[in-house]
Amino acid sequence: MGKETSIVHLFLGFLACLSVLVVKAEDPYRYFTWTVTYGTISPLGVPQQGILINGHFPGPQIDCVTNDNVIVTVINKLDQPFLITWNGVKQRKNSWQDGVLGTNCPIPPQTSYQYKLQAKDQIGTFTYFPSTLMHKASGGFGGFNIYSRDMIPVPYAPPAADYTLLVGDWYKSSHKALQRTLDSGNALAFPDGILINGRPQSTSFVGDRGKTYKFRISNVGLSTSFNFRIQGHKLKLVEMEGSHTVQQVYESLDIHVGQSVAVLVTLNQAPKDYFIVASTRFTKRILTATGILHYSTSRTKASGPLPIGPTYHVHWSLKQARTFRMNLTASAARPNPQGSFHYGTIKPVRTFVLANSASRINKKLRYAVNRISYVNPDTPLKLADYFNIPGVFNLKTIQDKPTPGPTVFGTSVIGAALHDFVEIIFQNYENTIQSWHLDGNDFWVVGYGNKQWTPAMRQKYNLYDAATRYTVQVYPNSWTAIYVPLDNKGMWNLRSAIWPRQYLGQQLYLRVWNNERSLFTEYDIPKNALLCGKAKGQHI
Ligand SMILES: *[C@@H]1O[C@H](CO)[C@@H](O)[C@H](O)[C@H]1NC(C)=O
Repeated sequence: MGKETSIVHLFLGFLACLSVLVVKAEDPYRYFTWTVTYGTISPLGVPQQGILINGHFPGPQIDCVTNDNVIVTVINKLDQPFLITWNGVKQRKNSWQDGVLGTNCPIPPQTSYQYKLQAKDQIGTFTYFPSTLMHKASGGFGGFNIYSRDMIPVPYAPPAADYTLLVGDWYKSSHKALQRTLDSGNALAFPDGILINGRPQSTSFVGDRGKTYKFRISNVGLSTSFNFRIQGHKLKLVEMEGSHTVQQVYESLDIHVGQSVAVLVTLNQAPKDYFIVASTRFTKRILTATGILHYSTSRTKASGPLPIGPTYHVHWSLKQARTFRMNLTASAARPNPQGSFHYGTIKPVRTFVLANSASRINKKLRYAVNRISYVNPDTPLKLADYFNIPGVFNLKTIQDKPTPGPTVFGTSVIGAALHDFVEIIFQNYENTIQSWHLDGNDFWVVGYGNKQWTPAMRQKYNLYDAATRYTVQVYPNSWTAIYVPLDNKGMWNLRSAIWPRQYLGQQLYLRVWNNERSLFTEYDIPKNALLCGKAKGQHI
C-alpha cells in the first residue's frame, strides 16, 4: 500500500470513529416530577380552589436548551382525569406526547403518566397548561422556555436576566363552577380580574440601572386579549413563539390568548420603581393588573398615573400586528438564517377556509368550525388510527370551506398528506376577537384583513418576511391567512385558544399522514401509552 493511500485510509478511519461518536452523543435529558393537587389560593383576595403543581401556582417553569429531552412525570392527585399540553412545543414526529384528548387518554385520578418530549430544533418562549375540561381556569400552567445552544448566535447581546411573565384573565369561581355554566348552555360571565404570575398587583422584577433585561410575556388566560406596557420604558420585540423578529421598539404590545412574546427592556430611567401594566383589550369594562419594575438602588415607590394603552381600538392592534416581521438574517435553532427557506415561492396545494360561529344546539350554546361543533370521542383519534379502530372519526365530517346549514355535533378531522404546504384562512363573521392555535406545526402569518376574505386578498400577503408562530388572532368581522408546511406527521389539534370556545366545540384535528410506517417520519407509540375507550385492552 502506498503512503498516500494509507493516509487516506487513516483519515477515513478517523471519520468513521467521529461519526460513531456523533451518533452516540445523545442530547441531554432533563427530568421533572410533577404532583398535581388541589390547594387553596387567593389571587384576588378571596380563598378559592386552585390547581397546584408541586404545591405551586403558577406551576414550575421549564428552562431547557434546543434539542434537550424533557421528561415530565405527571402524578394526578385531582378527582378528575387530567392532561397537560405543551403550547408551541412542536414534538417532531411525536404527537403521542401532545397531551390533548385527540392524542392521549387522560391520566386517571391517583395515577401517573410520563411524557417524553424533545425541544427538537426549537428556540423560544412557550407555555404549558392543562388541556382537560376547564382545569386551566384553576392553574396548572407555567412557562416553557427553550434557550439557544451556545454555538448558535442570538441576534442580541445576552440580557442581564431573563424574566417570565404569565399574564391572564381570572375568575373567582372554580373550574367546576365554570364548567357547569358552560355545560348548562351559557356563556361565561366577564372575568373577575387579571393576574401577572398569580397576582393582580405587586409582582416585582428587579434590575440594575443601565442594564438590559429580557421579559418573556405569555397570555395564559381563558378568553381575554391584553395590552402590555411598562411605565417610562420601551419594549424592544426580539422573539415571538420561536421566531427572532425584526427588533422594533414599541410603547406597548397586544398579546392574545395563547400567545407569547419576548422583549428587551433597558433600565435607562431615574432609579425608582415603575408600574408594569396589563389591561384587557376589546372589552367594555377594562380590567388592569400591575406589577413593579424595581431598580435595585430604588427607594421610591412606583407612582403617577398608569401609562395609557389602547382599549377598544381594533385598527390599532391590526396595524401593530402587521409590523411583526421575521429577522431573515438571524439564526434560528439551527445555525442558518431563518430566511433561507423561501416560503413565499411555494404554491399551497390546498386552501382551507375555516369559519367560527356561535349558535345553539338543543337550546344550548355551542361553538363550531364550518358548522361542526367538535365532540371528543372516548377513544383518542391517534389511538383509533394506530389500532385501526373504525367508527371513531371519518375525514368527511368537516368541509374545507364554509357551507350553509345548521350547526351539528361532530368529530372533525381534516386529512392532509405529509409535506403538504397549505393555506388556511380563519374567517371570523362574529363580532368578537378570535385566537387560533395549531399544535405540532408553526406557520407564517401572511395576512390580516377586514370582512370577507377572497382570493384577490392574496395580492396583499406578506410573502417575504412574515414571522412564524403557533397562535394567531383574528379580529372581529375579519380574516387572518396563514401558510402551513405540514412537515410533522401526526394528529394535530387546531383549536380556539379561547378556552370556553374550545371546550364547547371550536376545534378540530389535522391528520398529517403518509402510508409509510417509518421511524424517520413518526415515532412509534410509546410503551407507556395509556389506553382507553375502544383502545382498552389493545397490545402495544
Ligand atoms: C437581525 O439579525 C442579525 C444577525 O444576528 C443582527 O445582526 C441584526 O441586528 C438583526 N436586525 C434586526 C433589525 O433585528
